[in-house]
Amino acid sequence: MQPFRHHVILCTQQKPENVQCCSAGGSLATESALNASLERHGLSDDVLISTTGCLGTCENGPTMIVYPEGTWYGKVTADEVDEIVVSHLKDGHPVERLARKDEAEVRAESLDHRRKRRGKLAAQDKLGIVPEGAGITETIRSFMASRALLTALELDLFTAVGVGGTAEEMATRLHTGPRATEMLLHALAAMKLLEKHGDEFRNTPNAARFLAASSPDNARPALLHQADLWKSWSTLTDAVRADARVRNDVSHRDAESVRAFIAAMDRNARERAAQVVAAAGADFRRMLDLGGGSAAYSIAFAKAQPELTSHILDQADVVPLTREYIESAGLSARITARVGDMLRDDFGSGYDLVMLSAIAHMFSRAQNKALLGRIAQALAPGGKLILQDFILDPEKTSPLFAALFALNMLVNTEAGGTYSEEEYTEWMKEAGFRTVQRVRLPGPANLMIGEKR
Ligand SMILES: C[S@@+](CC[C@H](N)C(=O)[O-])C[C@H]1O[C@@H](n2cnc3c(N)ncnc32)[C@H](O)[C@@H]1O
Repeated sequence: MQPFRHHVILCTQQKPENVQCCSAGGSLATESALNASLERHGLSDDVLISTTGCLGTCENGPTMIVYPEGTWYGKVTADEVDEIVVSHLKDGHPVERLARKDEAEVRAESLDHRRKRRGKLAAQDKLGIVPEGAGITETIRSFMASRALLTALELDLFTAVGVGGTAEEMATRLHTGPRATEMLLHALAAMKLLEKHGDEFRNTPNAARFLAASSPDNARPALLHQADLWKSWSTLTDAVRADARVRNDVSHRDAESVRAFIAAMDRNARERAAQVVAAAGADFRRMLDLGGGSAAYSIAFAKAQPELTSHILDQADVVPLTREYIESAGLSARITARVGDMLRDDFGSGYDLVMLSAIAHMFSRAQNKALLGRIAQALAPGGKLILQDFILDPEKTSPLFAALFALNMLVNTEAGGTYSEEEYTEWMKEAGFRTVQRVRLPGPANLMIGEKR
């Protein structure tokens, strides 16, 4: 079977720093150039590209193999890709200049690499050294890059870099120390978020687009929420010992971190809203959006269903922001937001849709059971509850993100956690929902949809 005219295998294996490999040789740039070239020449649908792990020809990487011919190309830089696309993939003539000719040599190289690797692993094992790829050292060290980027965001460094400048100029713009600023700039350049030309630093295209204030796609306000979470996560050891949150300042959030948090919620919700509306699948008129945040779901339902009005209930420091989002969507006449506590305040009745998105994880089992009971009472017969959250498998050991998010709730809330489909189903049935169905959407969050008797 040959569903594609060509199948291209490209090694993008990443190895520890200073180890020769295809990605260190630029195979990610080769991959981008290959995609762009195929697009330019109208071949995207004729060629399947698969990126792969180590092929054992690291010293001659980036390695690219073209099937069905089985042509092995070595040292394929981004500049050379176009020639391969035109001559080989379009016109059917392999590029002799770049193709490896000696089959026995390629085979010996690959087998030799495998032997050395196995030997190295065996030696490490004998010495009792934590092996590469076990994920232990890598996981522990990964906080360094995370912290460097969070600090850059807190300083608004990418905005300061703007059109570029030296480390000294940047320190002046940021009111920071010149020695430390230079170190941070170098680390960010190593992380491919900045480029260094001579003494000058410039934003990479991604940093300029997503991390600088001059860009309409600036994600900094939303990403700053993670800098706030860093502070809570650093209390995790104490929280595990105490069996509860130990950070006391979480409930007294400053205005900037509330704005950052709601902006983070909004980016996420906007991306998912269309799929949630499609999964809800009915003609709704009266919606209650509990803890509606940026109103993203109310706005999406209101846009999809012209008769719908929505009531949002949220906390006092969020509601002014909720209203800003509603106003900029031009929906103030159909979506209202009021201050309230969903654990205590009356919801009213007769709703045909209740949205409970990214809420249940903030609360304990008992709080969720009581809340679901009150939601069921607020719904008209046949009305629907859409609960969106990170749902654990029955064993609670996966998915990874949902399991880690439970810890996020441990350090940030009084009694929150993440729960399984079985738990939600039991609570919703007890609350008076006739049918309860899990809907899987792409991404870490899923829906539990309940319909009232
Ligand atoms: C994680 S955000 C989710 C926002 C929104 N539903 C979404 O999915 O984008 C949680 C929201 O619930 C609000 N909230 C937390 N506790 C609340 C309570 N007891 N009563 C009302 N709102 C609350 C927060 O202010 C925040 O806006």
